[in-house]
Amino acid sequence: MQDKELKEIVTLLRQKPQLSVLTGAGISAESGIPTFRGQNGLWKQFRAEELATPEAFERNPKLVWEWYDWRRRIIAEREPNPGHLVLARWEREFPGFILITQNVDGLHRRAGSKSILELHGNIWQVRCLKEGTVRDNFESPLTTIPPVCPTCGSLLRPNVVWFGEALPRDILEKAYAASSKAELMFVIGTSAYVYPAASLPLVAAEAGAKIVEINPDYTPLSASADYILRGKAGEVLMAIDEALKENS
Ligand code: OAD
Repeated sequence: MQDKELKEIVTLLRQKPQLSVLTGAGISAESGIPTFRGQNGLWKQFRAEELATPEAFERNPKLVWEWYDWRRRIIAEREPNPGHLVLARWEREFPGFILITQNVDGLHRRAGSKSILELHGNIWQVRCLKEGTVRDNFESPLTTIPPVCPTCGSLLRPNVVWFGEALPRDILEKAYAASSKAELMFVIGTSAYVYPAASLPLVAAEAGAKIVEINPDYTPLSASADYILRGKAGEVLMAIDEALKENS
């Protein structure tokens, strides 16, 4: 890893800045959860418009739920990795720390993070199509597909954001606020293709934050990043965390 960059980032962290973090599927890759884009990405094997749109669900809720049930089963068998764990620790060490994630896998929560803004929802929550009520649902595999609401019998849907849908407004507003007030923002494991999530680091940079990108590959955000650490999220975050603890 780039030693000079690492040292400078550690110096910035030691000043206890207002720290915000944006994560994407790449942070869960080391846990064995497939990302969306890239060589073995989900969108290489499946068509988003058949599985992750409101129209797809209207057409064939069973098919959509079978896909989500499959993804839930993969996630249930996996564990948070050192990347998730470092971020959960940083939440306790940096006052005002905010974690913004595009991930629906719930691994940040399982790692112990509490202050999380889940921009794209959570795969372990279901929402009643009629009542709009959101409930936790950890049944894996699901016994009934598609599942129905225990109170009114209507269809339940995964409480995630599909293509063509708006992000939850309150969460997005909080994410913009956290980005505007950040002094340092880590952008970890996201291809930065999907908006509005990809605009958050730009908002932070515009407001004066230093941007650190952690990703093995180039992204459209790389050009705006102040520091780029090319590597796997878990390994890079562990290295930063260890350097932070040395002589501190
Ligand atoms: P992507 O699959 O688009 O991008 C994953 C990123 O992680 C890529 O830039 C990889 O280079 C990087 N990556 C892979 N392995 C990594 C590792 N070990 N450590 C760090 N980075 C690694 O995932 P997202 O950017 O999260 O939305 O995708 C954004 C949204 O597109 C998702 O939330 C989902 C998807 O369609 C919805 O479903 C609404």
